[in-house]
Amino acid sequence: MSITPATGQVEQTAISVQGLEKSFGQVNVLRGVDLDVARGDIFALLGSNGAGKTTVVKILSTLLRADAGTARVNGFDVRTQAADVRAAISLTGQFAAVDEILTGRENLVLVARLRHLPGPGAIADDLLRRFSLTEAANRRVATYSGGMRRRLDIAMSLIGNPPVIFLDEPTTGLDPEARIEVWHAVKELAEGGTTVLLTTQYLDEAEQLADRIAILHEGRIVVNGTLDELRQLLPPAEIEYVEKRPTLEDVFLSLVGTRTDKGQR
Ligand SMILES: Nc1ncnc2c1ncn2[C@@H]1O[C@H](COP(=O)(O)OP(=O)(O)O)[C@@H](O)[C@H]1O
Ligand SMILES: [Mg+2]
Repeated sequence: MSITPATGQVEQTAISVQGLEKSFGQVNVLRGVDLDVARGDIFALLGSNGAGKTTVVKILSTLLRADAGTARVNGFDVRTQAADVRAAISLTGQFAAVDEILTGRENLVLVARLRHLPGPGAIADDLLRRFSLTEAANRRVATYSGGMRRRLDIAMSLIGNPPVIFLDEPTTGLDPEARIEVWHAVKELAEGGTTVLLTTQYLDEAEQLADRIAILHEGRIVVNGTLDELRQLLPPAEIEYVEKRPTLEDVFLSLVGTRTDKGQR
């Protein structure tokens, strides 16, 4: 089931996928995936473990070839214009790719140098500030909490300002506070105009972050729309008067408070 976006102009589309298929041996992981992501949106690809989320991200980031179908990223075909696609994207995988021995600032400066950008120190300082890592800038990453590492990893992927970024399960394995820190970082990205495609297996993550949500199930997108559109797919809830009980997450956060970048692990 697909709910067509109101503004469907081609130039507004950052990612466009049609009929994507991929099998590994006898396993048909993707059986015809269709999706469009508008420029500047946060798009969540939601699916259980093994649904094929990473496979989609790998195809879109040119690390893997589809068996059939087409995909364009920032206007470029992933099959025939792979180099252009790579220049337009960054990919942050499920496991933080930061160097533990270096400080946060050194990690950022290193990537800016590798990309031959002028003023690597200034680029690093700006990103440290945006991701609330200034106080921890000169500490080795080995002393960072999980949320700080993931934020640094996302910051590193922004060097060079790619218009499209892929975040594969950005908060899997993080504690609730660290997840919220990462959510803030992702929201900031989209406010700056970056298109974000993230994968997640968490319903609340998609609910909190995404402008649009697509559910990948048994190799296809079974539903695609805004949270409100998805809610309308179900009959209206019966009205009941009950006391609103705090969620476990509410309780946890009210007891432990919200950690800033001083937290250590
Ligand atoms: N290189 C591969 N070789 C064989 N099977 C694979 C390979 N990559 C992924 N798979 C299988 O494809 C399915 C989807 O994997 P994946 O895309 O990683 O799912 P998700 O990211 O949603 O958890 C899984 O059943 C996985 O075992
Ligand atoms: Mg995965």
